[in-house]
Amino acid sequence: MVLLSGTGSLCAALLEATDAADYPAEVVAVGADRPAAPGLALARSRGLPTFVLRVADHPDRAAWDRALAGELRAHAPDVVVCAGFMKLLGPAVLAAYGGRLLNTHPALLPAFPGAHAVRDALAAGVPETGATVHLVDAGVDTGQVLAQRAVPVLPGDDEARLHERIKTVERRLLTETVASFVTADHDGAR
Ligand code: GRF
Repeated sequence: MVLLSGTGSLCAALLEATDAADYPAEVVAVGADRPAAPGLALARSRGLPTFVLRVADHPDRAAWDRALAGELRAHAPDVVVCAGFMKLLGPAVLAAYGGRLLNTHPALLPAFPGAHAVRDALAAGVPETGATVHLVDAGVDTGQVLAQRAVPVLPGDDEARLHERIKTVERRLLTETVASFVTADHDGAR
């Protein structure tokens, strides 16, 4: 199961990986918090079930969290991958899927957590940043790190250029880490 908010290029990489016969996971559904997220169209074009849960359509954040936990249960995934999902997960989702919730982040955590990781790394003037795949806990990008890969910051980089270079690395890191996670913890995963 993949959750996303945006372009969905990481989700696309995961879907392409699952096309290989020897990849140990498949994607059972794709969910988003924005109806216009292009990643949803990609999932639909592959015939995958999709759902959209907007926070604004719920009385409060706790109700949205419970609804999301309900959607996840309905699709019964073994693992939930947040691939550019720009919302913090709440206690209902953490209770249902804690330890099986993965997130990918465009920085070398614990450096530069939060929604502006690439911008923050550029502003700090670090010579390298990178990508991290980690377990989700109640904090902001604070869960156990599963895998990381460094990416150099190059002269002339702006946020868009650096983020694109990170995402090239991040796509491969995510597909590899999901594969090793499900192989280690599960007998195949959805
Ligand atoms: C990724 O860098 C992810 O880590 C971040 O947003 C980006 C999503 O990219 N939170 P895409 O929508 O999959 O192309």
